[in-house]
Amino acid sequence: MIPDGGSAAGADSSASKTPRADGGAVDDVALDPWGSATIDDYRKLFEQFGIEEFDEVLPEVPNPHYLMRRGVIFGHRDYRPVVEALANDEPAAVLSGFMPTGDPHIGHKMVFDEIIWHQKQGADAYALIADLEAHAARGLTWEEIDEHARDYLLSLLALGFDPEEGELYRQSANREVQDLAFELGAKANFSELQAIYGFDGETDVSHMQSVVTQMADILYPQLDEPKPTVIPVGPDQDPHVRLARDLAVRMRFFKVSEAFASFEATDQERVVMRAAYEALGGDDADVRCEEAADWARTETVEGVATTAVDSAVKKLQNAGKEPLRPRTRFFVRNATDAAFEALIEAIDGEKRVFEEHVDAFDLSIAEAEELARQVEVDNGGYGFRMPSSIYHRFMTGLTGGKMSSSVPASHISLLDDPEDGYDKVKAATTGGRETAEEQRELGGEADKCPVYELYAYLLSGDDDEFAKLVYDECVGGDRLCGDCKEQAAVLMREFLADHQEKREEVADLLAEADIELESPRRR
Ligand code: TRP
Ligand code: SF4
Repeated sequence: MIPDGGSAAGADSSASKTPRADGGAVDDVALDPWGSATIDDYRKLFEQFGIEEFDEVLPEVPNPHYLMRRGVIFGHRDYRPVVEALANDEPAAVLSGFMPTGDPHIGHKMVFDEIIWHQKQGADAYALIADLEAHAARGLTWEEIDEHARDYLLSLLALGFDPEEGELYRQSANREVQDLAFELGAKANFSELQAIYGFDGETDVSHMQSVVTQMADILYPQLDEPKPTVIPVGPDQDPHVRLARDLAVRMRFFKVSEAFASFEATDQERVVMRAAYEALGGDDADVRCEEAADWARTETVEGVATTAVDSAVKKLQNAGKEPLRPRTRFFVRNATDAAFEALIEAIDGEKRVFEEHVDAFDLSIAEAEELARQVEVDNGGYGFRMPSSIYHRFMTGLTGGKMSSSVPASHISLLDDPEDGYDKVKAATTGGRETAEEQRELGGEADKCPVYELYAYLLSGDDDEFAKLVYDECVGGDRLCGDCKEQAAVLMREFLADHQEKREEVADLLAEADIELESPRRR
């Protein structure tokens, strides 16, 4: 989500740097969910953390949202399965969570819009209030939490979330989430949380519990059936997404992989075996492991380390006359004996059963994955798919630095009086030049302008042409900051007035919705 200033240690270490579309500073990027969430260099996120570029899936997305079209949503992890499910009318889900630590602001609106867009595209939509996290990690009282939670929910509904189709919940009142959190907690230990989140001996237990609770949130949409699920968040939440993806795998009954003989091999060793198998005649030949060893000793296989070649040779040599044959292997990870039996039974065609795995000779990897998941679900497992995520850029604060809830002038709350919203925009810093002449000559720097961001992220709505017009006029020197801010300020005033009217209209809808609005908890 959006930074929520000044809570965690070191929160301000990069407060003066601004996220920029072009990358900007090339410091190391810290992804800390409870720290500063200013991300200095989005490019680094691709290189260091393996977040993929959104542009590369964009052409496949049906009716892409304007935040996607304008590059505000800049990255993703494994979003393709969700896109495919939406395009084919198959089950998919979207879920995000909000820590009710202050007023919802225009940064949260992006996430509300992302959830709502996915809901309109046919996904099961979930929005949750992360009240356990707010209580544990930020020390809010339940009374404060209740007040803010209500404000988040009203804005979400006012923007178009359908509470009858979708699900709203708060962590503290969702027994299924807490039960799942407990199960997931059995798959992670303290050292791991220490490495991921920097927890230490002083970290309180409830804070750690809020981590497994978030893991459970992320997997919750799959409790009724496994399905592609997207978690729209800011990149500061990526550590949570990665851990959730790992835990989803650790819960699985079986691991499916390719294999070539009875023994186990690493990915690299398998590349060597695949190469040997094909070079020696593949399906049509009766290739033996020792022949493959001889081949691999003398030939070079591209992209494989020599140590992997050596170990592959050794394994193949040890297997001697055993045939080298590609197969699909189901390795037992968490399965009960009964589930393993059921799996063996369910495999069609030639198969070979071992102590801890079973090899299938007539199943592709994809078919095997499907089968493994089905058997798992039928035998009391979850069959989780790894959750996907999409990441949006953080908005620059109106005063230049980062947008922070604790600096009112830096952000616009969805609850701000429309006149105050107008005034804040008028007082914003810009990417303008020193003088009007210079601006006419050189053009403004829209890419560095918080006001331009307001146009692109919010005020232009779905109207790409308008956003582009503002941009072109700015950089072309045809737009001066005074008028530009006036126009933006008027639009902001209208947006806030309209949004707040809608909030009033949905009050009844919220009262009827299936979510606890007042916590019975003390302090
Ligand atoms: N940790 C998130 C935040 O700081 C809130 C959150 C809780 C969340 N559970 C979630 C976000 C599940 C996405 C998905 O804002
Ligand atoms: Fe920003 Fe508008 Fe000025 Fe351009 S003209 S720098 S977009 S305020």
